[in-house]
Amino acid sequence: MIRGERITLRPLDVDQDLERAHCWVNDLEVTRFLGFEGPLTRHQEHEILARERDPEQDIMLAILTEDGTHIGNCGLHHISRTSRKAELGIMIGDKRYWSQGYGADVVKTLCAFGFVRMNLQRIELGVFGHNPRAQRCYTKCGFQVEGRFRRSIYKAGEYRDEIRMAILREEFAAQFPERVPEGMSET
Ligand SMILES: CC(C)(COP(=O)(O)OP(=O)(O)OC[C@H]1O[C@@H](n2cnc3c(N)ncnc32)[C@H](O)[C@@H]1OP(=O)(O)O)[C@@H](O)C(=O)NCCC(=O)NCCS
Repeated sequence: MIRGERITLRPLDVDQDLERAHCWVNDLEVTRFLGFEGPLTRHQEHEILARERDPEQDIMLAILTEDGTHIGNCGLHHISRTSRKAELGIMIGDKRYWSQGYGADVVKTLCAFGFVRMNLQRIELGVFGHNPRAQRCYTKCGFQVEGRFRRSIYKAGEYRDEIRMAILREEFAAQFPERVPEGMSET
């Protein structure tokens, strides 16, 4: 279990989580912001959740609210031990929980885990140009825009821009000192 301020992150449990996750990845209002092509069958979603992961390279977690409701999934992917960096991913699949600050708590909790527990020095992500809620969420968490890949994704009949954002460990420590141990080294 990884605890944030309001949320808790726990390992995925395929048996327990599959039905919800399968609904979310087939909800067009959710998937219009995600980088995969749906729809996914129950079997395909099962394969994704049950895939054997090397926790040194890929971590996927369930997001729980204060009362234990599972509202989405998140993770650190493409973890590089050499470059000490990872790609952050998040999906709050239950739309009733959007724009209530849960996403920002998840992102900060994952960053603290990555920087403090995994000793990363950089966390990066990609977000679509037509997803201002996610951009605002990442900006609140201290991520900076590093570039815009114009028309790099073809999604639901339209070409979309991808914005690349990232945060470095010292930037996170300076903005959220309460989330890291005092004196955490810069690099
Ligand atoms: C993106 C996501 C993770 C953000 O989590 P969240 O809990 O909704 O985000 P937060 O409440 O922490 O922050 C959202 C911010 O965006 C703002 N916002 C909401 N809609 C907005 C819009 N259309 N334009 C600009 N800002 C918007 C909110 O007001 C809030 O800012 P504030 O705290 O300053 O008021 C979540 O909405 C989600 O999973 N969406 C579906 C899938 C997705 O987009 N995943 C990310 C792919 S990169």
